[in-house]
Amino acid sequence: MFTKKWLVGCMLLCMSSSAVLADEGMWLLPGLKQNNEARMKKLGLQLSAEQIVDDLSQAIISFNGNGTASFISADGLVLTNYHCAYDGLQQNSSEEHNYLRDGFWASSRDKEIPLKGCRLIINRKIREVSKDVNTYLQAKRGTKKNTYQLVQEFADRYQREFPGLKVSIRSYRNNTLHVLYVMQIFEDVRLVGAPPYEIAKFGGETDNWTWPRHGCDFAYLRVYVSPDGKGRPYHPKNVVYHPDVYLKVSDKGFEKGSFAMSIGFPGYTDRNATSAEIWEKRNVLNPAMIKVRTARQKILKSFMAQNEAIRIKYAAKFAASANYCKNAVGMNEWIDRLDICQKKKASEQAFIASGMTIEQKSRYSQMLKTIETGIHEAAPYNSALTYYSEVFNNGCDMLNFINGFGSIIPQVQQKDDAMKKNFITNIKMHYKDYDEQVDRTVTKELFRVLKENVCQDLLPDFFQKIESDYGGDIDLFVNEMYEKSVFSTQERLLKAVMDKQYNIKEDMAYRVMEQMEEKRKMLFNQINEKKEKSSQALIEYARMLPDFRAGDYYPNADKTIRLSYGTVCDLLLPDGTEKPFQTMLSGVMAKEQPDNPEFRLPSKLKSLWQQKDFGTYAINGDVPVDFITNGDVTGGNSGSPMLNAQGELIGLVFDCNWESMTRDFNYDQNLHRVICLDVRYLLFITEKYAGMKRLVDEILKK
Ligand code: ARG
Repeated sequence: MFTKKWLVGCMLLCMSSSAVLADEGMWLLPGLKQNNEARMKKLGLQLSAEQIVDDLSQAIISFNGNGTASFISADGLVLTNYHCAYDGLQQNSSEEHNYLRDGFWASSRDKEIPLKGCRLIINRKIREVSKDVNTYLQAKRGTKKNTYQLVQEFADRYQREFPGLKVSIRSYRNNTLHVLYVMQIFEDVRLVGAPPYEIAKFGGETDNWTWPRHGCDFAYLRVYVSPDGKGRPYHPKNVVYHPDVYLKVSDKGFEKGSFAMSIGFPGYTDRNATSAEIWEKRNVLNPAMIKVRTARQKILKSFMAQNEAIRIKYAAKFAASANYCKNAVGMNEWIDRLDICQKKKASEQAFIASGMTIEQKSRYSQMLKTIETGIHEAAPYNSALTYYSEVFNNGCDMLNFINGFGSIIPQVQQKDDAMKKNFITNIKMHYKDYDEQVDRTVTKELFRVLKENVCQDLLPDFFQKIESDYGGDIDLFVNEMYEKSVFSTQERLLKAVMDKQYNIKEDMAYRVMEQMEEKRKMLFNQINEKKEKSSQALIEYARMLPDFRAGDYYPNADKTIRLSYGTVCDLLLPDGTEKPFQTMLSGVMAKEQPDNPEFRLPSKLKSLWQQKDFGTYAINGDVPVDFITNGDVTGGNSGSPMLNAQGELIGLVFDCNWESMTRDFNYDQNLHRVICLDVRYLLFITEKYAGMKRLVDEILKK
């Protein structure tokens, strides 16, 4: 049979000699009983699937749509990663209150800081509703085209059943498997505590995406609701939320081989990606991203090192850029090292060769050829488009603002209404983290990157003008743009927005972005044209791939709640290198480099170490710091609780290892590990370093 598992299985055989029972899978919760419970129990689980799905899952929180958190106390205390709360820390930091650098601890509940725009979501109910939905689809004679709409219609029926909650149905397995999620949303989220940067991100970008690791990547938040229990935004009358379900935290530890499962919200995977798509990532998308980000990060880094105010402005932007830049570098390295394109190709060929009719064989190989041709023909345009989005959507702050809001300015200028007020708030928010000199320097450099890497006829028209009117001098052009444009400072922009006579369309930066937009449309059209057939073939190919045997089907990650399980275990590399499952505080101390900002340690931590003042968290005179398991997680799982066999929290997922950078399209049991913070290090830092025994008591209910 041609199953998805079959393909993956074939890849596993290709890639690793020791065939182990893979704990692959980002499992949908409603299928847990049928698909996983037996295996999980064999590994040590002591709960039933029902306890996990109906009970435990209600404590797991989707953090702002791109991370995970969990309730860990009866008073709405939330645990997530420091790096997930980083934006919030940055938004509230100033030179006087540099929480980003020094951490933050609320001395009492009324000192907890509301995090504007932070949204937490939990699932109050998760249920498979395939039978009902499929009956409805049949009755309505659903077709491929209107299925989505019909499913939404059906979801509306449930909505009436759950007032105040948000209902959503997600469809999988060629629209035959449907899962109902009933969600509760919280919008008053306050910062309770976070360690200083030097402890939380010890090892910095150098250690990011690698194991062994020595970070303490956590932050505490608290959820508040209206007195009648509604998840409304910040209000002084809001009260602490008492969740129906919160996780028990266990400081009792675990061993190598202990059962460990995480529940969280993984964002994106494409485990069925074709060799051509992986080729595209490797050779078209990743290189553009890496080039632009590396150039920008170098500039940001040097400005940030010189000036603390600039560091605060750019810290979150830098971290976001660096995180996925390094990820792309690792992905490319490991696509090559594991020869993944070739191996995928071989497994595609093996798939076609096995047990198909001649007619099927020719259809599927034609499909794969069509996919490959489309991707290759679109490559130059796709590359240019990636450069555009890295430069104009992410790279240059001033141009990025025009990209996001420019088109509505002429309209806003003519009004004096709520929209204008809103717009002014947006301007202030954007420019709060903007420095003209930094941005000007970045823009010059990124225009150079564009010129060097995008073929001339795919560049926006102003590049011709730079040649003809500015003697090819990018700096001259960019300087003039920043001097003339109202977008280069907040004050000038606010003035222009208030001035009904001012013609924004004549603005130099505005024109630059119009020209960019024109070319971008052209690139889109080219890509659509080149990829029209291949996109169709991809959909068809994906459809025929899995036969979805009951028992081992898990869909690609899509930001819905998933469970992954395995055991605490070492990482043994094919070359014989052994990377043990655990790191200790002694290892943190050994790694310290006082002159390197990424490896510096606060003196208080060092004196706690010298005095061996570890509270109850030590084993053999040392504190366990981080550990790894062999589960299956990806971006979005950051902040997921790692739970033991009783469903108690023993750690916090915060990263993946370097050898696993191809995980989104290739799972490898031998190479992939989940990196977790040990809850004992977290509690030690809370109690001994921050002096927040009160929080520890709240968590451990002492
Ligand atoms: N790579 C991690 C993730 O994407 C983020 C780790 C943050 N820490 C750091 N040192 N950059 O989840």
